[in-house]
Amino acid sequence: MTVSTKPLDVCLQGLGRLEYRGYDSAGVACAAPGMDHVVWCKKAGRLSVLENELAKHPLPPAQTCIGHTRWATNGEPSDINAHPHISQDGKIALIHNGIIENANQLKFNLQSEGYNFVSQTDSEVAAKLLGKIANRIIEDTGKPDLFAAVRRLGKMLSGTFAILAIDVRQPDVVCAIRRDEPLVVGLGEDESFLASDVTAFVAYTKNALEIGQDNAVMIRGGRVEATDFDGNPVEARRFTVDWDASAVEKGGWDSFMDKEIHEDPASVRETLMGRFDLDGNIVLDELHIDESTLKNIDKITVVACGTASYAGFIAKYAIEHWVHIPVEVALAHEFRYRDPVLTPRTLVVAISQSGETMDTLMAIRHAREQDSKVLAICNTQGSSIPRESDAVLYTHAGPEIAVASTKAFVAQITACYLLGLYLAQVKGAMYRDEIHGVVQGLRAMPGKIQWVLEHDADVVKSTAIALVSRPAFLFLGRHVGYPVALEGALKLKEIAYAFTQGFAAGELKHGPIALVEEGVPVVVIVPSARQGNVLHDKVVSNIEEVKARGAYTIAVAEEGDPDVERYADVIFWRPQCPTLMSPLVDVVPLQLFAMDMANAKKLDVDKPRNLAKSVTVE
Ligand code: M6R
Repeated sequence: MTVSTKPLDVCLQGLGRLEYRGYDSAGVACAAPGMDHVVWCKKAGRLSVLENELAKHPLPPAQTCIGHTRWATNGEPSDINAHPHISQDGKIALIHNGIIENANQLKFNLQSEGYNFVSQTDSEVAAKLLGKIANRIIEDTGKPDLFAAVRRLGKMLSGTFAILAIDVRQPDVVCAIRRDEPLVVGLGEDESFLASDVTAFVAYTKNALEIGQDNAVMIRGGRVEATDFDGNPVEARRFTVDWDASAVEKGGWDSFMDKEIHEDPASVRETLMGRFDLDGNIVLDELHIDESTLKNIDKITVVACGTASYAGFIAKYAIEHWVHIPVEVALAHEFRYRDPVLTPRTLVVAISQSGETMDTLMAIRHAREQDSKVLAICNTQGSSIPRESDAVLYTHAGPEIAVASTKAFVAQITACYLLGLYLAQVKGAMYRDEIHGVVQGLRAMPGKIQWVLEHDADVVKSTAIALVSRPAFLFLGRHVGYPVALEGALKLKEIAYAFTQGFAAGELKHGPIALVEEGVPVVVIVPSARQGNVLHDKVVSNIEEVKARGAYTIAVAEEGDPDVERYADVIFWRPQCPTLMSPLVDVVPLQLFAMDMANAKKLDVDKPRNLAKSVTVE
């Protein structure tokens, strides 16, 4: 049996790549033949704190290693509450994502048997319980069997979990169980990896397995065994990661967010790629929903959270216009608690970059129970939401690492538009030429986004620096500009910690205008004046109204708009494009603005406080 520093090195590298998922503490544990107990190290704070500690007090070479970065749910971020958690006898180490709902009862039982607890976490309860189960198996059978032990643990836990465990008595295996938390296996040569996201091991292998709900898995060298919690073998779906390890490197950019904003054009282009036949018709064979079912769809309900919900909100305007069916946009966490009206003719569209947002996952489960078809628009292969949907349309934005969603947002809008146009095609709601015209407009958007990146960067940056000390910002828009305003407000709020509020501009006089006073920055998304767009003049009037009350106005407007030039203090220009396409360009200066403001405040733009990239708890 070989021991080396590789397991720990691979683990730390993987944690570095996964740190965007949670970053309030980190830890590792290792096992090697001959060890009496697992060795471990864990620290509150960023991964670098753990790495510094390991540099001062190195762990011995090992055969297996597990590691964790945490986003606290149960117990404050501290050294003690950090993972791994260790069994009472020190033989087993465990890491856990999720929330164990029956932890209090299990803890009480264990305490009454003499078990001691040092942390405030539910995860320590799982570690102590696993230690007990593993020892019972040894007593009964005379040999250790960590795989059987984790399966038994899985049956005793309620709530959500992805748990990985090692045992010094079987130092060559890592075992895991999952329920409602992501878990994938990387298939290397003579080595295997377990992680919540392929990002962790893509430098070593692009071949991966999705681990199913309520399944257990054991890896030993290059061998992988998957079963249900009763030990029956199960088939895990194999997939190949379609991007390179370099995609998760900063590659010379100051931050992942900077890199990802500059990938907006590619994100739209890649999402369109391969989705047309030689005649220019949209082909979405990957949907696996037959045309007769799609023809029958009489309503769309979008379920999503945060930025993804704003992409759905934009799509509502386009799809209702093109397909003439109602589109409702529901925040996933509100959706299933309000008796939504769903029928077998409702298409539920779940939008999620990560594919793991628990609120969205729960919403689609609810929809499927009502017999509605669920289509996922997702950026992450091997994730739970596509796996539990009837159909999936992948966005090809590539891995998004910065917590603030940017390139995924433009890809989500693009995918929604493809879906809307495809429905229009299938239902005959638009003429073929009309669809081709819209598609042409869509195909021109990467170039227009690039134009914005090149032309607006300086003015956006200087505006952000000039306004760095303003405590509050208002964002206004109408029609598709309204969700863009909401998204601009969210971006600035989440990474620059400014108080922001997005409004429908028409709502201004119904209350929000009371917030306007001397110097308050108001960002206004201005529709094009071309083709007699009546909304243009109304939005320009809104600029005048807030300006008359002392606001500092920043407009996002079409190149050369003379009215805007007359009234706005600063203008972020966009090139001419059809109204329904404008969100794809209008959001770009707002993404840059949030990033520049966060940089000006010397904040960590990629890892804003209190947030995590994947919100896998409700
Ligand atoms: O992975 P998802 O797209 O499901 O995530 C949804 C939201 O949590 C996410 O968009 C969040 O609002 C971002 N931090 C916004 O930048």
